Order: sequence, then C-alpha cells, then structure tokens
Amino acid sequence: MELVNLRVKKQIKIAEDQFVLTLNSPSITKVAQAGQFITIKLNKNYDPLLPRPFSIHSVDRETGDFLIYYQVVGKTSKLMAELEPGDEITVLGPLGKGFNLELENSRALLIGGGLGQAPLRFLAEELQKKNNQIYMAIGARDQEGLKNILCFEESCQEINLATQDGSLGKEGLVTELLPQIIRDFNPKIIYTCGPLPMMAKVKELAAQEKIPCQVSLETTMACGIGVCLGCTCESTNSEIYPKVCTHGPVFWAQEVKLDG
Ligand SMILES: Cc1cc2nc3c(=O)[nH]c(=O)nc-3n(C[C@H](O)[C@H](O)[C@H](O)COP(=O)(O)OP(=O)(O)OC[C@H]3O[C@@H](n4cnc5c(N)ncnc54)[C@H](O)[C@@H]3O)c2cc1C
Ligand code: FES
Repeated sequence: MELVNLRVKKQIKIAEDQFVLTLNSPSITKVAQAGQFITIKLNKNYDPLLPRPFSIHSVDRETGDFLIYYQVVGKTSKLMAELEPGDEITVLGPLGKGFNLELENSRALLIGGGLGQAPLRFLAEELQKKNNQIYMAIGARDQEGLKNILCFEESCQEINLATQDGSLGKEGLVTELLPQIIRDFNPKIIYTCGPLPMMAKVKELAAQEKIPCQVSLETTMACGIGVCLGCTCESTNSEIYPKVCTHGPVFWAQEVKLDG
C-alpha cells in the first residue's frame, strides 16, 4: 500500500454523471489485484476532509496506468468530475482483499449491477489471462447505466444486459436472467458486485446450484485501512463483524449477511 500524489492523466465522460479517470502509478499497478480499491483525496479541497474509496477498474502493468470508473453522487465525486489532466490528487492503495483467482481453464459468471460493474472489468481481464470463459450479466436502471459495457467485449464470451425500464437488453432485473444463464453456461464460480438486494438474490441462486460465489461489498469508509471500524458489515457468524476495507471488500457469499 502506498500514499502517493498522482497527476490526472485523462478523464473521459462515459454517460450522464459517469466518468473514467486514468491515473499512472507503476508501483500501484504492479501489485494491484482485481477487486482491490484505492482511496482518493482531492488536494484543492478540505471539504470533504476524508478520502473516498473507488475500485480499480483496470490496470496496464506495462505503462503503470490504471482506471477508475465512477459515478457522481456527492461532493467528492462531483469535484472529481471537474478534474483535468495535470491536476494532482492524493491516492492511497491498493487496499483491501481482492477476488479469488484460482480458477483456470474453466467458466466464470460475473454479475454487475449499476456501478457494481466497476471492479468486474479488472476481474474479467485477469480471469481471461488464465484461459477461462467468462459470461457477464449486467443490470442497470436504464441504458445510461450501460454506456461502459464495451470495455467487457474483449474479455467476455457473452454479455447479457437488463434494464429496469427496458431501454436496453431485457426489461427487468438482471437476476431474472440468471437461472437460464446458469443452466446454459454451467459456471464453476460466480462473482458479483452491485446493490445488496441484487447480491442477496445472486447468493441465493448460487447456493441453490451449489456454485461458489464471491460478493464485493460497498460501505461508507473513513480510514480505508482497518483503524476506524467505520466500515464493518454483518457476517453469518454473529460473533464476527468483518471490516469491509481490510477483510473485504470481497467475501465468499456464505461469510456475510446481505439481507439485513
Ligand atoms: C470498496 C468500495 C469501492 C467502491 N468503488 C466505487 C467505484 O468503483 N465507482 C464508484 O462510482 N463508486 C464506488 N464506490 C462508492 C464511492 O466510494 C462513493 O460513491 C463515494 O464515496 C461518494 O463520495 P461523495 O463525496 O461523492 O459522496 P457523499 O457526499 O459522501 O455521499 C453522497 C451520497 O452517496 C451515498 N454514498 C456514499 N458512499 C456510498 C457507498 N459506498 N455506497 C452507497 N452509497 C454511498 C451517501 O449516503 C449519500 O447519500 C465504492 C465504495 C467502496 C466502499
Ligand atoms: S474504513 Fe476504517 S476500519 Fe474500515
């Protein structure tokens, strides 16, 4: 883990309120694992005081570039959208525990909901390097939420889409696509990131079919390094309250409660 001041290399607007930021740090990209995250603190502003966590979307280990795919939801992300090439930000990372990457020469199903797509690109790229076939299912409220899907084309065999308003892909929830995909594709592992109710349903389906499943959780975070206890989640063992920033954000689905 490193604390570094980095200059913005590039910023692309993907859709309304959605951006992809390119940063460069050979020391971070060298060790980053799919599913890990960084925190970003904007140097020009004291408010918000605390850094914010963002998943590593993709890395280029040769150039040292890495990408952050983010949505504007509040103060920090609004200011991030105003960043221009050359602007300096403070980055801490890579942080947390990433996805399990033991799978080789096999089949993985990746399910993303909304900005939960963000860590799945890096994951798909790493799984592809291990000769796995990858099926992707992505859900969003509307087609604006699916403007970044082309980035999955090179690494995935098939990409299935669902929008709640029916503007792209199947109308409805992405989880409605899953029984058919699981039957046809017979995945050996499922990975998911997105809203809690979506991940709860994925966990239920995976358990029914006895397929190992990993979930990537989001909580509000203050320190990002296991000190403040501000990010604990509920585990299925009532005596343990894992910290999402250090024990996660990726967990085996059976380790954590997703439905309150
Ligand atoms: C491990 C991890 C990885 C993440 N990866 C990404 C990513 O790749 N791309 C991305 O766009 N976002 C990601 N997030 C969420 C991101 O951290 C928040 O959107 C960000 O902190 C918002 O900061 P803000 O100052 O813009 O908004 P704030 O002013 O802090 O909050 C604005 C609104 O967003 C809500 N909010 C803030 N943080 C979260 C959160 N974590 N989950 C749900 N609601 C939240 C607040 O309750 C409030 O309603 C991740 C979060 C975690 C914990
Ligand atoms: S954010 Fe401080 S302990 Fe996790």
